[in-house]
Amino acid sequence: MSQTDDFKRDAGYAAVDRFVESGMTVGLGTGSTAEWVVRRISQGLESGSLKKIIGVPTSERTAQLAGELGVPMTSLARSRPDVVLDGADEISPAFEAIKGLGGALLREKIVAASSGRSLVLVADETKPVEVLGKVSPVPVEVEIFGWEITAEDLASLGCTVTLRFAGEDMSDPYITDGGHYTLDCRFDGVTDPEALETEIKRIPGALECGLFVGLTKAAVVAGENGVVVTERC
Ligand code: A5P
Repeated sequence: MSQTDDFKRDAGYAAVDRFVESGMTVGLGTGSTAEWVVRRISQGLESGSLKKIIGVPTSERTAQLAGELGVPMTSLARSRPDVVLDGADEISPAFEAIKGLGGALLREKIVAASSGRSLVLVADETKPVEVLGKVSPVPVEVEIFGWEITAEDLASLGCTVTLRFAGEDMSDPYITDGGHYTLDCRFDGVTDPEALETEIKRIPGALECGLFVGLTKAAVVAGENGVVVTERC
């Protein structure tokens, strides 16, 4: 395991230990860091330190892992999460985030929003940044119908737009769990994430964007100096 993987594990474990209590419904994020969250919950259920946890997975991938590890699951139809633990691609000092490089942003945002402002971002030390979007693109999940027009409209906001591909030879467009395309929008920094989120969501084919604003209650970041938990006031 690389050192970054160690930090992802440390952050995932610390986030569960700090924010998950017996009896909770927990939103389970997607990605290599969120996997450690699922593993820690599974360990807790097995050891008895956690009881009656129910997970709401944000992707088929996470649902499969949770199933394999014996973490009981439910859907949003039955329960809103008390807390959501999820990874991030970038985290700003104001707790805004870019998410979705792992391809699950629409479901991740639906689950995060369903919990009120109870998203806990879990990350290794490479994720905090001063200004969002200088390194990572802003992913946008889009309806396949008319996606070329959606891409033009997104580009008019001042970014370079790339359709995401997947597969062994990267020859097929990546299809999300919801059956949509993802457009990666490269800006030269996003200084006002809330305003940009609003502009993106005015475009009819743009179903949801990877800017997460006003949803985070805490960040758990692990690195060389250990785990740092920062809670939003
Ligand atoms: C999934 O769609 C993403 O939002 C991930 O949470 C994000 O990309 C972080 O992934 P890693 O934990 O794998 O870095």
